[in-house]
Amino acid sequence: MATTITFSNTLAAATKGAQHLALFGSKSALRGGAWKSALPKAVHGLAKSLVEGTESGALGKVATTWTGSKSPARLSVAVLPDRLSRYLSPSRAIAIEGCAAKLDLNGSSKASVVLILDDPAHYVAAANALGRAFPLYHRRSKAPSKRTLNVVALDSKGKPIKATPEVKRTVEASRWAASLVDRPTAELSAADFVSEARKALKGIKGVKISAIVGNKLLDKGLGGIHGVGRAAAVPPRLLIMEAGPKRAKRTVAIVGKGVVYDTGGLNIKTGGFMSGMKADMGGGAAVAGAFRVLAAEKPAGTRVVALVPLAENAVGPDSYRPDDVLDMHSGKTVEINNTDAEGRLLLADAVSYAAREVKADLIIDAATLTGAQLISTGKRHASVVTNRAGLEEGARAAGLTSGDEVSPLPFAPEIYQNEFASAVADMRNSVKDRKNAQTSCAGQFIYSHIQELNVPWLHIDLAGPAMPGKRASGYGVALISEVVRSLEDAALAE
Ligand code: BES
Ligand code: MN
Ligand code: ZN
Repeated sequence: MATTITFSNTLAAATKGAQHLALFGSKSALRGGAWKSALPKAVHGLAKSLVEGTESGALGKVATTWTGSKSPARLSVAVLPDRLSRYLSPSRAIAIEGCAAKLDLNGSSKASVVLILDDPAHYVAAANALGRAFPLYHRRSKAPSKRTLNVVALDSKGKPIKATPEVKRTVEASRWAASLVDRPTAELSAADFVSEARKALKGIKGVKISAIVGNKLLDKGLGGIHGVGRAAAVPPRLLIMEAGPKRAKRTVAIVGKGVVYDTGGLNIKTGGFMSGMKADMGGGAAVAGAFRVLAAEKPAGTRVVALVPLAENAVGPDSYRPDDVLDMHSGKTVEINNTDAEGRLLLADAVSYAAREVKADLIIDAATLTGAQLISTGKRHASVVTNRAGLEEGARAAGLTSGDEVSPLPFAPEIYQNEFASAVADMRNSVKDRKNAQTSCAGQFIYSHIQELNVPWLHIDLAGPAMPGKRASGYGVALISEVVRSLEDAALAE
């Protein structure tokens, strides 16, 4: 059994019977003793000396000791830095995540975390950071025994901060998204992704789910999704999830790349680059997770439509080939010059569908789109590209609030579209020059399929953050839901 995470609104409920109790906070907050009533008097001294003996360093440090008493038998502190530089969430999510991973809280059947927060607004990011230390997916032959982690947040005076539904939903949906990303393709085909989404959304009222499968994609003009996925044993499909009133003030479409496996296709990935490509549906998982949060939260005046184009980029007699020309949903034609640049074909179709069929007022797409994203903005920050300055700012702010941080890359259609010039079709799918802003260019390819409609568009390349180490993060769930929740009309203006 994987670890169940619960949130309590009182110290007593959160710490009762804890075997391992960990106090998280900055050194000054921990010195303040807000945690005192969480611990039996006998161990106050121990807690104090752990705090005094530990310096946070740049990203937080942990210290741990046995107490000699029964509850807690083990006591730990995670001393967080007072503040971080401006590209990192002020919630110090990155430090909480790192400390939680080091603490082995999974090692006891009942662990408790007391989080001392500077600001109640940090709770979502802080809780989500904790959640990342407890992945749900595993395939050990022996199932680990049932474990629980109980979390309570306190202000600096020791007063509990309420765990809102938003906190609980975000953690739950991020862990779910991560579990999908961790699942190998043999256990998560394009069809399985749809059934998992149906299962996860069952309890939420007012959600409509449908899928366009196999050759039906061609009837709808979705030649990009069909082309990429047609060689696989499980047919490609477009998963469509809808929530919120049809006549809402605003319709937001969230679109996620759902490549359940990326072999590269006939331009096959060599030299070990194929390993890890089970995670190429990380954008789709982020979008499905964000949809799960938003469908339950029902932000005022907003209809949310999630689109996940699902395909396995496989090798077979029916694979799409370099030199083939695909007819896209936008009406444009694409000459294939690299079958490994498949994600943009799925997204171009799905984004065009969002603009032309769903008639979205805002389109957000998320994808493990380019290896170059890791070069540009790394494992922590997704790269964002957008045609609206307000969305760039909104994404940056949402990143800092949610703990899923981002950094913008340039948007300049005038220069990047040239990279895709084709002699026979409207464009090719891969750039001429790989050393010319590859991640921006991949975004531009997608944008070129909706460019003439001038709809507000935000592209999130999360190739690194979705799987920063050996485990999926669920990155993007908190970010996308926060972008939508905090969206202001002005952000959509030109
Ligand atoms: N899924 C990959 C991108 C990727 C690479 C994600 C590494 C996560 C880690 C994508 O489909 C791809 O193959 N992109 C190519 C594009 C190239 C062929 C223009 C890349 O980034 O090399
Ligand atoms: Mn690829
Ligand atoms: Zn891919």
